[in-house]
Amino acid sequence: SLESASADVARLTRWADDFPEPGVRFADLTPVFADAKAFRDIVDALVAIGGDADLVAGIDARGFLLGAGVALALDAGVLAVRKAGKLPPPVLSQSYDLEYGSATLEVPADGVDLRGRRVLVIDDVLATGGTLRATAELLASAGATVVGVAVVLEIEALAGRDRLAEYPLTSLLRV
Ligand code: PRP
Ligand code: MG
Repeated sequence: SLESASADVARLTRWADDFPEPGVRFADLTPVFADAKAFRDIVDALVAIGGDADLVAGIDARGFLLGAGVALALDAGVLAVRKAGKLPPPVLSQSYDLEYGSATLEVPADGVDLRGRRVLVIDDVLATGGTLRATAELLASAGATVVGVAVVLEIEALAGRDRLAEYPLTSLLRV
């Protein structure tokens, strides 16, 4: 259930001050995913909000872990949304500002036809929302419909939710 997934995340998240830069408090979900019950609870909760998605997009890198589990349960495909430089050309790219620095996300420009696909986008953490917004825009520009956006942990103070207003957004735990 959503309640047990929330409790698992609250109990197991590993917080790090001043990482990767001074002033940033980093939420490391590694222990959450390494716990069998927590991983099951989280995947189940994300599947419950997956609706009629036919493709699950997991964002590099921890979104991959969740995306694969959720896609299997939804009988959907899985799409790895990669950090720049990992995929051979041609690619579609979307750059964005991070809480610290900037980055670019990419998907193949051929081979995977995203037109008309109904995509659920998954990542571990929502902070400023830049990563998820860039991913949603990248997929939409390729012709997909983003039917949902989901994260395990939402850092409310950074107001990422406000940057994702046009997408249905679910977070399993808000802190
Ligand atoms: C972290 C986290 C999210 C993103 C959220 O990833 O995994 O993807 O930040 O931040 P935002 O809402 O401000 O965009 P990061 O870019 O640190 O890279 P990683 O996933 O490769 O560790
Ligand atoms: Mg990330």
